[in-house]
Amino acid sequence: MNIQSKVKNYDVVSIADLFANKEKVCASVKNRRPFYFVDRTISALYAQQLQSFVGDNFLQVMDAKESNKEYVKLAEYFNALISHGFTRSDVLVTIGGGILQDISGFIASTLYRGIKWIFIPTTLLAQADSCIGSKTSINFGDYKNLIGTFYPPDQIFIDSDFCTTLTPEYFNSGLGEIIKFHLMSDAAGYDRLQAYLAAPDHREKTILQVITESTLQIKKSYFDADEFDTGRRNLLNYGHCFGHALESATDFAVCHGEAVIVGMGYANLFSVKRGIMTPSKYEEFENLLRPFYPKIDWATIEIDDLVKYLKRDKKRAGPDLTMILSQDIGKQFKLDDLQETEVRSVYSDFVKTYPKTK
Ligand SMILES: NC(=O)c1ccc[n+]([C@@H]2O[C@H](COP(=O)([O-])OP(=O)(O)OC[C@H]3O[C@@H](n4cnc5c(N)ncnc54)[C@H](O)[C@@H]3O)[C@@H](O)[C@H]2O)c1
Repeated sequence: MNIQSKVKNYDVVSIADLFANKEKVCASVKNRRPFYFVDRTISALYAQQLQSFVGDNFLQVMDAKESNKEYVKLAEYFNALISHGFTRSDVLVTIGGGILQDISGFIASTLYRGIKWIFIPTTLLAQADSCIGSKTSINFGDYKNLIGTFYPPDQIFIDSDFCTTLTPEYFNSGLGEIIKFHLMSDAAGYDRLQAYLAAPDHREKTILQVITESTLQIKKSYFDADEFDTGRRNLLNYGHCFGHALESATDFAVCHGEAVIVGMGYANLFSVKRGIMTPSKYEEFENLLRPFYPKIDWATIEIDDLVKYLKRDKKRAGPDLTMILSQDIGKQFKLDDLQETEVRSVYSDFVKTYPKTK
């Protein structure tokens, strides 16, 4: 897939056996010295292959945790590269999920006002969603993804074999975004999603590659004419308004894509209460989402916290609360007039019917 970005055009390349194909990866940035940022789980799980892939080049192993996306940590990352002699003629190569992508993207966009950057996504969420679209995000205290730039990698290499080692929750996290994009597509996309979900093994390589590519194509169709997120791309926040609040209120115990699944369920119920979605459509969507709802002990979550985080939503436009509501496949709308009383009332109904066990 080739993506025409206003920042720079880039390719997404599917690659088998990535660690045995260093030449292919480096061919795109000939004669540049690679500096590696690698996820700690990857460095442990793939230790031997990684060692021969990286060789004597600079390697920084990082923990994929939200606190490492804090702006106060940035000096550490800049220092790691600069103190090891990184120059404009070198290339940053990131191997990891969305957290390492967000950190690396921000560093890549600002160091020397933009450096070469290769991204090798290793989570399903990063392979099927975050790797494209140019966003880089840094947290500011309690404010998630508040600081950022638009800066895509120069090249993205996807090896779906990485998904074989993901924990069930992080695999489901990727599924959450896959489901979201297909609910935002069209009848053919919805059919593809249902066929995929009906398959006995969601990690099977061939079907995983098909659904990943389909997801990337849908995402591309949303940002092609709105890369900088001033219009239609906003709709991709379907499930994210409540989802982000849930992530923050649980101190990220609920991972991103799983929070999005819950957020879509909440937004759908809100849509029914507003008369936008029919109860039968709600049931249809709920039957699809319910098997993937993570286990949540709602008694430990304060609605006041959720409301506090909803009020901090970057997409909020006025005094009221904002959310993407849904009518049907491919029919999502941004509403800016949500009242706090409604938010609390829908929450109470949503929690009552939330599955008690996984
Ligand atoms: N920039 C964007 O457009 C964008 C879009 C969506 C989400 N995000 C951000 O992405 C982050 C979430 O990223 P994520 O869900 O990809 O995961 P992650 O980077 O948080 O990693 C999740 C966990 O999986 C581990 N891991 C990574 N690859 C693995 C593998 N192949 N096998 C086993 N374990 C592996 C990591 O060590 C970590 O423990 C959030 O901070 C979110 O805000 C960014």
